[in-house]
Amino acid sequence: MNVVDIIIKKRDGQTLTKEEIKYLIEGYTKDIIPDYQMSAFLMATYFKGMTDEETYNLTMAMKNSGKTIDLSRIQGFKVDKHSTGGVGDKTTLVLAPMVASLGIKFAKMSGRGLGHTGGTLDKLEAIRGFNTKMDIEDFIDQVENINLAIIGQSEEIDKADKKMYALRDVTGTVPSIPLIASSIMSKKLAAGADAIVLDVKVGSGAFMKNLEEAKKLAELMKNIGDYAKKKITCVLTNMDEPLGYAIGNSLEVIEAIDTLNGRGPKDLTELCLTLGSYLVLDSNLVKNLEEARALLLEQIRSGKALATFSELVKAQDGNVDYIYHKELFDLGEELIIYAPESGYISRIDSYKIGHASMLLGSGRENLDSEIDYSVGIVLSKKVGDYVNKGEEICKMYIGDKNVDEAIELVLDAYSYSENEIEPKLILDVVR
Ligand code: URA
Repeated sequence: MNVVDIIIKKRDGQTLTKEEIKYLIEGYTKDIIPDYQMSAFLMATYFKGMTDEETYNLTMAMKNSGKTIDLSRIQGFKVDKHSTGGVGDKTTLVLAPMVASLGIKFAKMSGRGLGHTGGTLDKLEAIRGFNTKMDIEDFIDQVENINLAIIGQSEEIDKADKKMYALRDVTGTVPSIPLIASSIMSKKLAAGADAIVLDVKVGSGAFMKNLEEAKKLAELMKNIGDYAKKKITCVLTNMDEPLGYAIGNSLEVIEAIDTLNGRGPKDLTELCLTLGSYLVLDSNLVKNLEEARALLLEQIRSGKALATFSELVKAQDGNVDYIYHKELFDLGEELIIYAPESGYISRIDSYKIGHASMLLGSGRENLDSEIDYSVGIVLSKKVGDYVNKGEEICKMYIGDKNVDEAIELVLDAYSYSENEIEPKLILDVVR
């Protein structure tokens, strides 16, 4: 087999065989096929697409490019979750303990933030001492013992995705539906859960800018899951405004803890209940979604979800006092931003808010950037709220970086309208 023939075949819009895809991925993972040839292949795929069968074969070849996790020694139903990446998205910090507190096993490998989107690991590390590195055996032991562990993606798992994602990032080939689907699903299938809920973000802060594209991605991931005999639910959610009020690592952990205490923002709480209900239903603990939702609400009301979060923090060497004493979180200097005009807020561009927060230091411009956990933005108003000119629209928590540029982005992120607006969070479900 010859890699140039494979590139030409894809360039000309033909369908690749399972063997050709396997040859390409194996060769690339072992550094036999160089980046420049993989770049050409990725760009050909970006333009010509893939059939569902090719995407499945690509997913399986990527999944098999590294170790896979065998969760079979854990008794009980095992679940996982993935988000395609959002702004203010602290869902895992609430969803995972809420579901795990019911005895469902939540084995979660998470990522770091890049660009304008945040990452669960960075957020958890805002809690002093929290350790996100663990070997796989200890990870499995912890899930067995306390139903929950959240760690970084192991270097050994899905090696092809690590190399391909970094290359896609610098070759303009990230927003391709078959490439996103295979990237997400290869990681999730390698992680071994029985049921997976996928939060597919749609809007300005997301890879999928409109509902039609997002639906195609969701259906493709569901098909791949069906082939692999896993229960997949894709929930398509609005990213035309940040999720919740808080953006930035410490601020988001505080908001997640408030949500576990039953005092969270409406949209974040609703998303966690929706995603969680599908996992609870798949685990056969209940007969329908209404019962699942009631059970999850009870986990919050009774304090059991918060107690599970506390167990997680303790098990991973974090300082549990942070959960009960918000003032322990180090926060930047407060700077209030006022509305330049009156009206109903019709949009809060997630990309701009995420980018502003990243510039303040909450995220990374490149993989080696240092994070400032204390900075970020807390919205005072959400889409649909009415503001008068001069009223507070958000608070920025600043350090010593890029303050003027961030203020400009934040002001620019808000749009105002004379008409009332009713934002919609859950756009569709594919299951
Ligand atoms: N998230 C992933 O894991 N991979 C992609 O390609 C896009 C989002």
